[in-house]
Amino acid sequence: MSALSLSNLPSRVKIVEVGPRDGLQNEKAQIPTADKIRYIDMLSDAGLPVIEATSFVSPKAIPQLADADEVFRSIRKRDGVTYLVLVPNERGLDRAIGAGVRAIAVFTAASQTFTKRNINMTIEESLSVFRGVVRRARAEGMWIRGYISTCFGCPYEGEVKGDDVAAVAEALAEMGTDEISIGDTIGVATPNQVVEIAALLQERMPVERLAMHFHDTRGTALANIVAALQMQIAIFDSSSGGLGGCPYAPGASGNVATEDVLYLLHGMGIETGVDLEKVRLASRTLAGALDHELTSKTFRALEAAGSG
Ligand code: HMG
Ligand code: MG
Repeated sequence: MSALSLSNLPSRVKIVEVGPRDGLQNEKAQIPTADKIRYIDMLSDAGLPVIEATSFVSPKAIPQLADADEVFRSIRKRDGVTYLVLVPNERGLDRAIGAGVRAIAVFTAASQTFTKRNINMTIEESLSVFRGVVRRARAEGMWIRGYISTCFGCPYEGEVKGDDVAAVAEALAEMGTDEISIGDTIGVATPNQVVEIAALLQERMPVERLAMHFHDTRGTALANIVAALQMQIAIFDSSSGGLGGCPYAPGASGNVATEDVLYLLHGMGIETGVDLEKVRLASRTLAGALDHELTSKTFRALEAAGSG
């Protein structure tokens, strides 16, 4: 058996479900708040350990998530589940504290142009804003994630240097984030690059603090996850149904689909604690409020088979 199997992979993986945030932020048609709440409640029942519920960003930047306060207050908080929200600045943190949030994510990028378009700051300005946000969130006892976008390529600048990713990751680690998610915002990464970045980062911080966030624009996301697993990375972001994209990254398509990641991991004997069938039901329920089909291959295969 051993000669034919991938060896020394993590036995358990943490899935961070980003559908309600990264997925919905990219939907053009306004999704009714009640549908978002039902969707998140169904994801909670699927055993997902972390659900990114919404963003406390400017409603002018992301109109779809202007109902963040109501969504966050109304979702059922299941014991043991971390409900994460995006916070870009002090104003976002004020809103999050007001809504009873216990876990936040700050977000910047490895390339300047994307950072400017996304949050209207330079990378340095964003890190300086986040130092204040993280300090205050820590004092509130919150759990804190840091995102770095464009780690494998920028829609405006093209190639991104590994050293630039590492410098931002170090800054986020030093200010006290608990976990850092390495984003392939426009889905250009290939497995060799994943191994290179993972090696570079592991020289600087424990692998337990690293997550990877793949968009599946060119169909390489699952291959990238296998490469990351071989580098002992055991935290992956995904969105149910394959929803997603970033309005500030032209051409970026959905996140790798949670159903596809679960099928892959469970087939490889890696535990997640997540019920694929229940994720599928959450995706199916949300699909009724969307004006397009879901892209997850596993979701489609299960639907076509007509089970459930
Ligand atoms: P700005 O225009 O420079 O900021 O935007 P501002 O301070 O001048 O504020 C502009 C207006 O927004 C003001 O309102 C503020 O009050 C308001 P006005 O006076 O014009 O009426 N405002 C806010 N309102 C609510 N909540 C707030 C807030 N802050 C300001 N927190 C800003 C700067 C950062 C606010 C804006 O650019 C923004 O909100 N950007 C968010 C963009 C975003 O959410 N992008 C998608 C998420 S990142 C992503 O998808 C990548 C990821 O998935 C990883 C990957 O794939 O790579 C994480
Ligand atoms: Mg993303």
